Amino acid sequence: MPRAFVTGITGQDGGYLADQLLGEGTEVHGMVRAGDDDAVRDLLARTPGVVLHDGDLGDAEGLRRLIADVGPDEIYNLAGISSVAFSWAEPVLTAQLSGVAAATVLDAAWRLQEDTGRKVACLQPSSAEIFGHADSWPQDESTPVRPVSPYGAAKAYAHHIAGVYRGRGLHVATCILFNHESPRRPLAFVTRKITAAAAQIGAEGFGVIRLGNLDARRDWGWAPDYVDAMVRSVRHEAASDYVVATGQTHTVAEFAEAALRRAGVGDSWRDHVEVDPEFLRPNEAPILVGDASKARRELGWKPTAAFDEVVGRMVDHDMELLKRGKA
Ligand code: GDD
Repeated sequence: MPRAFVTGITGQDGGYLADQLLGEGTEVHGMVRAGDDDAVRDLLARTPGVVLHDGDLGDAEGLRRLIADVGPDEIYNLAGISSVAFSWAEPVLTAQLSGVAAATVLDAAWRLQEDTGRKVACLQPSSAEIFGHADSWPQDESTPVRPVSPYGAAKAYAHHIAGVYRGRGLHVATCILFNHESPRRPLAFVTRKITAAAAQIGAEGFGVIRLGNLDARRDWGWAPDYVDAMVRSVRHEAASDYVVATGQTHTVAEFAEAALRRAGVGDSWRDHVEVDPEFLRPNEAPILVGDASKARRELGWKPTAAFDEVVGRMVDHDMELLKRGKA
C-alpha cells in the first residue's frame, strides 16, 4: 500500500485529496498545525482514516524529521498561504510559507530518497498567479513567469525550486492550478463570499455583496478535479509541469450574476452588488485562463464541471446550509 504525506491536509484541496487517496487504498498521513482544532475535527469526521501529525511549515528541522519518520512514497505539499489578498498584508510570511518551505519539503524528500534508495514522488502545487500580467492567453506551461503579487512571487520561487530538485533526480511534478472552487472554499475567496451572500439575499430578498474588482477574469473549475490532476501527475512515469484549468474565463461580475440568479434573484441581481475599494488589490492579473492540453494529453485529465455547474453546486450548498440554520 503506498504511503502519502500531505501538508495542508485541513484545507479545501487537502480534504479532497485525503478522500481520493484513502478511496484508492493509499495510507494517508497529514501534517496539522497546533490550534487548527475545528479544521481537524471536520477532517476526521469526513475522513477518519487519516493519520495526523503535529508540525509546522515554519519549523524546517521539525518538518525534515517528520518526513524522515513517516517515510512516504508520495508527498503533496499543499500547505502555505493561499489567499492572494492576504499576501499583500503579510508578504514576508507568504514568502516563507508558500515559497521557501517548498525547498525544505523537497530537500527532505530528496534526502529520504537518497537514504532509503526508494523513489519519493512529490507534488508542488504551483499557481496561475505566477503568470501575473501575461502578454497572452490562454496561459500554458511555456508562458513566462512574471508575478505581480507577493503570493505569486512566493509561488514562483517554489515553482522554480521544484524544477531544481527535478533536475537533481527527484520526481517533482508541479500542477499550475488555476482557480478551483467548491462548497468547502473559505469565505475569504470571492466565489464562496458571493455564493454565501447570494443564498442569504435569495432567502431574504434584500442585501448587498460588497466586492473589489468586478472586471477581473478568472478560470474557475471544480476543486476535486484539480486534486485528481495532482495524483495523476505524481504517478505519471515522468515528472513535469502541468497547467490545470478549464480553459473558460468569466469576470467576477459574471460569477455574481450567475450566483444571484441561481439563488432566485433574477434580473435585479445588479442591485445587490457594489464595489468597495477595501477589496481592491494594489495590483493583479487582469485575465487568467489556462490551456490544459498537456495535462489532457499526458495525464488523461479533463475537468468534469463547467462554470455554471460550479456556481450552481456552491449556491445550492449555501442555500441548504441556510435552511438547516448552519450558515
Ligand atoms: N477575495 C476576494 N474578495 N476577491 C475579490 C473580491 C472580494 O471581495 N472582489 C473581487 N475579487 C477578485 C480578486 O481581485 C480576484 O481577481 C478574483 O476576485 C479572485 O479572487 P480570490 O477568490 O481571492 O482568488 P485569487 O484568484 O486571488 O487566488 C486563488 O486562485 C489562485 C489561482 O489562480 C487562490 O485559490 C490561490 O491560492 C490560487 O493560487
